[in-house]
Amino acid sequence: MTAMERVARCGVVPVIVLEDVARAVPTARALLAGGVDVMEITFRTAAARASIAAVVKEVPEMLVGAGTVISLEQLAQAAAAGAQFIVSPGSDEGVIAACIAKQLPILPGVVTPSEIMLGLRYGLNVFKFFPAENYGGLKTIKALSGPFPQSKFLPTGGISEKNAADYFADKCNVAVGGSWMATAEMIKTGDYAGITRKSAESVALFKAARG
Ligand code: 3PG
Repeated sequence: MTAMERVARCGVVPVIVLEDVARAVPTARALLAGGVDVMEITFRTAAARASIAAVVKEVPEMLVGAGTVISLEQLAQAAAAGAQFIVSPGSDEGVIAACIAKQLPILPGVVTPSEIMLGLRYGLNVFKFFPAENYGGLKTIKALSGPFPQSKFLPTGGISEKNAADYFADKCNVAVGGSWMATAEMIKTGDYAGITRKSAESVALFKAARG
């Protein structure tokens, strides 16, 4: 199964910000216990690289992506750490081309037709739609799907259990991303039971929406 197939099967992609590498493996295990076997560890903290490496080594059932990859240097670090897919908030041609050269699946961030067309030029057809709620949410995704029926989206940004159901229900979306399943606060306080509960609830929402 490809990384994109795993993402689609899981239905949710938790966006994880880790300040402390020691929290990485317990967070991954908590997500897994709730039925979430995909996670995005973001390059917003100095702990990202080591956290990715730790989860790849200790939790082999988890598909680990590197998020917020905005430079070639971060991409090199993510690849060295063993990241199995790459997510970026935007569409940088250098990052996209380098991922393809490394055979690393990449979900570049898009909000406009031009950004989607850049990705299509590189043979990509799954995009992070970020920040989703600020850029018109599902309404914009449906409008973009008109000229780009081959493209699928991972909406992220401002989505939580309160508004995820409609995103889950729409087949334009391959999955839905966000931090609500494992917030910075939950990770900091070691609320792993809470992470497992929110993960299980999110998976149930996804399954209910897709029938
Ligand atoms: C991301 O990087 O994808 C977002 O920061 C996650 O957005 P959220 O915190 O609003 O879920």
